[in-house]
Amino acid sequence: MNINKTLIIGKDSEQPFTANRIGYGTMRLTGKHFFGEPENRREALQILKKAVELGVNYIDTADYYGIDVTNRLIAEALYPYQDNLIIGTKIGAMRKDDASWNVFSKPEQLRHSVENNLRVLKLDQLAVVHFRYMPGSETSFEDSLSAVFELQKEGKIAHVGLSNVNREQLEAGLKMGEIGTVQNLYGYTQRTTLAGPMGGAGGEEILDLLEAHQIPLIPYFSLEASLGKGQQKIEEIAKKYNVSTAQMNLAWLLHKSPLILPIPGTTSLKHLEENMAAAEISISKEDLDYLG
Ligand SMILES: NC(=O)c1ccc[n+]([C@@H]2O[C@H](COP(=O)([O-])OP(=O)(O)OC[C@H]3O[C@@H](n4cnc5c(N)ncnc54)[C@H](OP(=O)(O)O)[C@@H]3O)[C@@H](O)[C@H]2O)c1
Repeated sequence: MNINKTLIIGKDSEQPFTANRIGYGTMRLTGKHFFGEPENRREALQILKKAVELGVNYIDTADYYGIDVTNRLIAEALYPYQDNLIIGTKIGAMRKDDASWNVFSKPEQLRHSVENNLRVLKLDQLAVVHFRYMPGSETSFEDSLSAVFELQKEGKIAHVGLSNVNREQLEAGLKMGEIGTVQNLYGYTQRTTLAGPMGGAGGEEILDLLEAHQIPLIPYFSLEASLGKGQQKIEEIAKKYNVSTAQMNLAWLLHKSPLILPIPGTTSLKHLEENMAAAEISISKEDLDYLG
C-alpha cells in the first residue's frame, strides 16, 4: 500500500510544520543510563549529521538527556539549522547529579526547562515542546499544562505536545488548547501501556482520538520494546520483503496510520541508514492484515 512520505504538525495552526515520516531520537547519544557524555562524541556528531543528510527533519531531544548533552550535540552538529528542521523537546522531568530521574513540573521549573532548551539549542523559539507527565507530580496535570501554554503565548514555543499521557489527560489537554503532537510508547509488540513508572497509555489506546483531531503520534521505544518479543509474524514478512526485522517494525508503524512519526534511536550509522530506508517499504494489504 502507498504511504504518505510526510505528515503535518499543527495542520490548522498558524505555523504548520511538514515532517518526513521517519525522525530520529537522540536519547542514546549520551553516556551510560542516558547520562553524561557519549563514549564517542565524534561518532555522535556524525550520526546527527548523517540523519539529516538521509532526510530526517524531525529530531527528538530533551534537556534531561545528559543533562544538556544531546542538545549540545545537536547544536554543535547542525547549527545553523536548515530551514525545515524541526527539533522537538520534552519538559516535565530532570536528572539530578546522581543520575536519578525527577519530576520537574512546577510552572517555574517548566519555564526554566524551556529557557534552558532555547539557550543550549541556540533557538529563539522551540518548534515542539512535549510536556511529559510523570507520575508523582505535586502540580496537577492541568496547572502544569497551563504554564506550558503560557510559554507558548510568550512566543517561546510553536507547538505544545504531550508525552506519556493517558486518555483522560489527553482529553483534558484538548479542552485547554491546541495540542500539536503526542509522544507515547508504541510499537508492533508493545501496543498498550508498559508496566512500570513511565505512565501514559500505549499508542493504540489513544490513536483513535489523535486521528479524530489530526494530531501526529510520535511513538517511543518502538524498536526497544518490540524487537525480540512477539516478532514471529514480522520476521516472516520481513523475509518475504527482503528487509530486516527492525525495518519491518518501522514500516508497519508507517502503514498503521498516516499520523505516525517514528523516531528510532540508534548509535549505529548502519542502523540509521537501515531505519531511514524503511520509509520506502510498501506492505500489501494482505500482509498488513496478516500482521494484525
Ligand atoms: N517520552 C518518553 O518518555 C521517551 C522515553 C524513551 C525514549 N524517548 C525518545 O524516543 C527515542 C527512541 O527511543 P529509544 O532510542 O529508547 O528506543 P528505540 O528507538 O525503540 O530502540 C532503540 C534500540 O533499538 C536498536 N536499533 C535501532 N535501530 C536498529 C536496527 N535497524 N536494527 C537493530 N536494532 C536497532 C538500538 O541499538 P543500536 O544503537 O545498536 O542501533 C537501540 O538498542 C529516544 O531516542 C528518545 O528520544 C522518549
